Amino acid sequence: MVKPFIIGSESAQKYLQIGLEILGDRGTALDAVEVTCRAVEADPEDHGVGLGGIPNLAGQVTLDASIMDGRTLNAGAVADIKNYLHVISIARKVMEESPHVMLVGEGAELFASQKGFKRTTLSTDYSREFYRAFVEKRLHTLGPEYDVDIGYLREDEQEYDMETWYEKLKDHMRGTVNVIALDSSSNMASGVTTSGTYLKLPGRVGDSPIIGAGNYCDNRYGAATCTGTGELAIRNGTARAVVAYMKTGMGPLRACEESMKEIHEILETPSMNVIAIDAFGNTGGAATHREVPYYYYDLDCVDVETRKGTWVRK
Ligand code: GLY
Repeated sequence: MVKPFIIGSESAQKYLQIGLEILGDRGTALDAVEVTCRAVEADPEDHGVGLGGIPNLAGQVTLDASIMDGRTLNAGAVADIKNYLHVISIARKVMEESPHVMLVGEGAELFASQKGFKRTTLSTDYSREFYRAFVEKRLHTLGPEYDVDIGYLREDEQEYDMETWYEKLKDHMRGTVNVIALDSSSNMASGVTTSGTYLKLPGRVGDSPIIGAGNYCDNRYGAATCTGTGELAIRNGTARAVVAYMKTGMGPLRACEESMKEIHEILETPSMNVIAIDAFGNTGGAATHREVPYYYYDLDCVDVETRKGTWVRK
């Protein structure tokens, strides 16, 4: 029997146990990925995902998510969705109970409602206070990490330079959960869920729900998922690129490193991370801007293992 395991990005660390329990009971990789992502979505302390996500420029919390089944290459995604918490589960319903891969905005909300998901408020005291502080130009009062001139761009401002905006925000875009699991039947699945960039432009969708950009999974070669500046992963097709590199025989670490080199060719000072597994159970992770760890858990581990991701410099 294949040794099942699960890996995740920083935000998933404390919830990998939940996914591993499912794998240990001979559950599916899809279930393990979904429940782990749901746990992060429900955590109000994680401000880059689900409940308590930091709002967009208009003060709304909007979520993106995707899930992919490596056995069938089926995938489901939702984007720019408001007032529904478990977007990873809605994405899975899109995959399993609709003829489509991706639903956005009001259509995604209508689908969620028809599938029995309950509307809820996604903002918390902290996310409301964050937005208030932004509007009142006192983000620095929330902590030294926000003592940065981010420009205070507003929806009604016509003049802006997107790259400058992201340059200023890039170290403050926390969150986004990546989870990849391999189950005892040798099937793999991958999930990504996020509230996206802090104070993003209304309507902005990142890489997380874009199959091939933030998420890709194919039992034959491996799976890869991204965190960081989603625009870069979309422009680069990062997750699919990593899996394609693994198809050529590269291990997951090298494949992740190659894709981060490609990101450096797009932007001078990028902020992008990717994690991957291959069909043999090897794992890897790389980032463009620092050493970003990722987390591994299997049934032989005493605790979640921290694995070092490579810092790929230009
Ligand atoms: N990588 C998450 C996002 O850009 O929304």
